[in-house]
Amino acid sequence: MKLGLYPLSALLRCKSGRCYRLWLRISDRLSGVQSVSKSWMKSTVYIETLGCQMNVADSERAATSLRRAGYDLTLSPESADVVLVNTCSVRERAEQKVYKRIRQLRSLSTKKPVIGVMGCVAQLEGQAILAKAPDVDMIIGTRATDRISILIERLKDGEEAVIDLEERAEGESWDVSPVERHSPFVAFVPIIEGCNKFCSFCIVPYSRGREKSRTATEIVDEVKQLRELGYKEVHLIGQNVNSYRPRSEEGLEKSRGATPFCRLLRALAETGMERIKFTTSFPRDFHPDIVAAIEEYSNLCDWVHLPVQSGSDRILKSMRRGHLVEDYFRRVDAIKNSKRRLSLTSDIIVGFPGETEEDFQATMKLIERCQYDGLFIFKYSSRPGTPASKLVDDVPESEKKKRFLELESRQFDLQSSIYQGYIGRAVSVLVEGRSARSEEDLTGHSTCHKVVNFKGDPTQQGEILNVRITEAKSYSLYGQQVNRDGTRGVPMRTPAGDA
Ligand code: 5AD
Ligand code: SF4
Repeated sequence: MKLGLYPLSALLRCKSGRCYRLWLRISDRLSGVQSVSKSWMKSTVYIETLGCQMNVADSERAATSLRRAGYDLTLSPESADVVLVNTCSVRERAEQKVYKRIRQLRSLSTKKPVIGVMGCVAQLEGQAILAKAPDVDMIIGTRATDRISILIERLKDGEEAVIDLEERAEGESWDVSPVERHSPFVAFVPIIEGCNKFCSFCIVPYSRGREKSRTATEIVDEVKQLRELGYKEVHLIGQNVNSYRPRSEEGLEKSRGATPFCRLLRALAETGMERIKFTTSFPRDFHPDIVAAIEEYSNLCDWVHLPVQSGSDRILKSMRRGHLVEDYFRRVDAIKNSKRRLSLTSDIIVGFPGETEEDFQATMKLIERCQYDGLFIFKYSSRPGTPASKLVDDVPESEKKKRFLELESRQFDLQSSIYQGYIGRAVSVLVEGRSARSEEDLTGHSTCHKVVNFKGDPTQQGEILNVRITEAKSYSLYGQQVNRDGTRGVPMRTPAGDA
């Protein structure tokens, strides 16, 4: 497969002396010396990730591939020879942040590091980034995560700036080394990339391309391996996980289910991985068999993220969501009527073009009906190139803000009473670390994806514990460890480690 690296300086490269000067400039920046040496191979790379879980997974993959090519990864942008910013373009503000952050990162270091832009902004803007941020050396598209070392080499060879916006290579490995994972206990496992839905407001189909599903064999093997490595939880991730449709049956033969995603869920539940979460689900493709699978397997977690975007049919049509409010309610009913109590979260956009007060009130009504455990609210942001960008962005910013606050305030109250309902109940918590708020507290997520804090010993990180909820805030729960029989749990250890 053609890698399609586009050297912007191709025309300049052969001019006498220029290539050599550029080589010195780049090798200088990569190794800190002017001599012709291989030490640039030991250059350090800093990767900063903005945006969604998909970007986190891509950064993990990029880091794995760079380390394999001989680079060291660092957490300090000041000391890095190569600084990469993995970017998000889902809303305009996210995109503006990218350019600001590049300027900040550049000024942090006296080393003049090589600067690379990865992710959605890179894919969409391509070469245009160089006009906005002339210091950028590399533009790395969303499917070029495994080719960054090749791009660095091209810089070393004298090219002034390099761009790779091509597809992933056929058969490209999805390997992620444990050291590059964002957590030693929770792993993101992409199962599908891209999106075919083309909701009218959304840039993702343009930044991430068409849907491509990994084979079930590959995913099941990865989850088995993660389990052997001690991971306690996997998040199956993708723009629309339930649109999962691999090219072959490979790995699904023994699993039943109404859709390939339902079959994949059962196949993964059979691996014995302790907790399996998945996000994001697309309403139109949400089959009730997903709920049936969750009821059958306790390791499929009791949480569904099902973005609705609006409570008005008129707006949903204009958003080209492919579902109406009633269709959405049918999915919600299947979730709410489950034998297990399933947590439900969603995304909503306020101020979409043409959204009237009446449309907005329909959204307000929808959240009463859905009783969400959590809600991400966004003010509509016009994205160039999307169908909605051709509509007049006619809801004034002040009105968007007003609707945002009204929705947020109502959700706050609804959510508070849902959280209050947890008091007295025991939830299973994967301990992910110490709480930022208190030295004595540990923090983690429940299977229903709520943040739970409780007193505990730092050595318990990575364990799955039963916690009885004693206090509810609006965005987190507080509790006490209990044994499975309901009695008080593990006593606190002193710092010396004695019980
Ligand atoms: N404006 C505002 N919010 C958006 N989202 C996606 N595109 C836009 C946009 N143009 C929101 C949707 C989506 C979430 C990830 O981001 O609610 O579900
Ligand atoms: Fe965007 Fe719609 Fe695809 Fe979600 S389903 S990523 S909102 S186009």
